[in-house]
Amino acid sequence: MKIFLDTANVEQIAQALRWGMLDGVTTNPTHVSKTGADPRRLYPQICALAAGRPVSLETISLDADGIIQEARQLATIADNVVVKVPVMKEGLVAVQHLSAEHIKTNVTTTFSPLQALLAAKVGATYVSPFVGRLDAIGHIGMDLVRQIRQIYANYGYSTQIIVAAVRHPLHVLEAALAGAEICTMGFDVLEKLYDHPLTDIGIELFLKDWKKVPQGEPAGAK
Ligand code: E4P
Repeated sequence: MKIFLDTANVEQIAQALRWGMLDGVTTNPTHVSKTGADPRRLYPQICALAAGRPVSLETISLDADGIIQEARQLATIADNVVVKVPVMKEGLVAVQHLSAEHIKTNVTTTFSPLQALLAAKVGATYVSPFVGRLDAIGHIGMDLVRQIRQIYANYGYSTQIIVAAVRHPLHVLEAALAGAEICTMGFDVLEKLYDHPLTDIGIELFLKDWKKVPQGEPAGAK
């Protein structure tokens, strides 16, 4: 499963890159607003840092023509740009046009399997089901991912699933078990994937025991 970072923070992206754990980036207006940066400067920076990996940049227009104009503009920033479009009638009209123009799209704010079916029918490159927001209102978010997986398999759609609005490592585990192509997560969740208390205890014990091992000169040395 590919790991995307759900952020607009360049330090976090650089760190994940260093760890060899960055397969892509998803931004949204909320992430961008948290950085305080001008997107005209920030977006090219993120795309360059994550070169060769998809970077989702979100449109804010509510009509198809506006979304298409924004998308064409965003696509000029770099060749790894994926245009994020909300799942709504005008959004999917725009995605249909953008697919024909070979502009990659990520259909976002998806909360039902039927929305995901519609996204696939207009040729979306990616669909993003928001699992954590469903969990928060008493629905099992990951059921949505499993249903989309089944529908796409039934009909051979090539739209890839990005499990989004991920809150904790269990979401990442379930996304992988459900066969999602991608899981996008905050930096805090990515860091937690490394952790296990038994790993810490194990390392500490090995280091303690290593101190008991004679540390003389290597055999043959004077
Ligand atoms: C996905 O692409 C979205 O950016 C993201 O996961 C939004 O979810 P959240 O704001 O609920 O975390």
